[in-house]
Amino acid sequence: MVDPLPLFPDGFLFGCSTASYQIEGAVHEDGRGRSIWDTFSHTEGRTLNGDTGDVACDHYHRYPEDIALLADLGVGAYRFSIAWPRVQPTGSGMPNRAGLDFYDRLVDALLEKGIVPVPTLFHWDLPQALEDRGGWLNRDTASYFADYASHVVTRLGDRVRRWITLNEPIVHMAQGYAYGSHAPGRTLMLDALPVAHHQLLGHGLAARALRAAGASEVMITNNCTPVQPAGEDAGDVTAAAVYDAFHNRLFNDPVLLGSYPGFLADALGDLVRDGDLAVISTPLDALGINYYNPTQVGAPGEDSPLPFELQPIEGYPTTAFGWPVVPSGLTDLLTGLRETYGEALPPIHITENGCSTAPGVHDQFRVDYLDGHLRAVHDAIAAGVDVRGYFVWSLLDNFEWAEGYSQRFGLVEVDFDTQVRTPRDSYRWLQSALLTARRGGSAAWPGPG
Ligand code: GAL
Repeated sequence: MVDPLPLFPDGFLFGCSTASYQIEGAVHEDGRGRSIWDTFSHTEGRTLNGDTGDVACDHYHRYPEDIALLADLGVGAYRFSIAWPRVQPTGSGMPNRAGLDFYDRLVDALLEKGIVPVPTLFHWDLPQALEDRGGWLNRDTASYFADYASHVVTRLGDRVRRWITLNEPIVHMAQGYAYGSHAPGRTLMLDALPVAHHQLLGHGLAARALRAAGASEVMITNNCTPVQPAGEDAGDVTAAAVYDAFHNRLFNDPVLLGSYPGFLADALGDLVRDGDLAVISTPLDALGINYYNPTQVGAPGEDSPLPFELQPIEGYPTTAFGWPVVPSGLTDLLTGLRETYGEALPPIHITENGCSTAPGVHDQFRVDYLDGHLRAVHDAIAAGVDVRGYFVWSLLDNFEWAEGYSQRFGLVEVDFDTQVRTPRDSYRWLQSALLTARRGGSAAWPGPG
């Protein structure tokens, strides 16, 4: 038995997050084009057990059941992502009406239950046709992304007010283009850097397109981690600062301050054209932060292709994935952001936080994880950080990228043979925890002013 959660500020938004390729399935339906994740997951040896998102949670057909689960849980918001190749099968040109129809139905069904829709426009499922032209290494992808954003907001903008442009551009660049463990599977190491700038440019152009169409609240979701040096050694301290620049500041600085951190600005050089940083720093209404764990960094070994080396953090419980559980890291991250960016920091939403656990519905581990991290958010608010929302990753067990179906992140267990959904203990816990954590169950989004 854990103590009831403390009271969160009035209007604080509690929600759940998912992503299109991880749950939708129906990859050949209604004119959807091929995405880089279809290609990657169907390439031998890329995902565990050769798992693919072909069926996933079959959410494309079962979304009414999934929305009923959200409603019973009592959350006020749902963050989902829109699959670009459903809207534009080859990444550009006229929109595919049937693809947009799906999200239209989804939004209406959410609103009917009083749940605020918070769509993300890009959660890594790039149309394959754009990858064939260089993907995010190609500057043109940024403009295509803004066109796609315009099509989506034109269709849904009468009902959707809150938008997230990109999900975790660092992870897409690092795993997808530097290390090759995610789609599109490139192994460019430091030469992947242009992917950061082009995604950020895409974010800025899309933010402007969303605003031009009347969107009132726009944010980007960055994956952030507090970085600690492995030791006091100057090599460790420098490596930690370099890693912090790559993982956190490369994506937060240009968006919030309109500049790249020094050595990365040098490395990007001429790629950054006049006016780009003004576009990228288009003012945001909120910043989305995904937090899973802190990172420990040491000096690189002699043959390392990178200027840092990640090291395990000892002394904490670990998730099924092996990630250390450090709730205080979330408080540190949030107060650190406040210190670094001061008045330039907009209100924050924790747009993902959660853990994978052993199979089964009795998941006290997840209850403790969520309880600890919600308290950590509360501590940050008490310390003066303006945090306005918290979204659990994830509503459902789903296709966990290269790990296939082996990592279970859901408040709700999914049997992938039968598609039966079974709420876990953590779902029941959150259901009652939310009653004490919020006053009056308000799902309002306290926008500026
Ligand atoms: C995030 C990602 C999610 C999910 C989660 C758990 O990086 O945005 O799609 O996979 O990690 O690993």
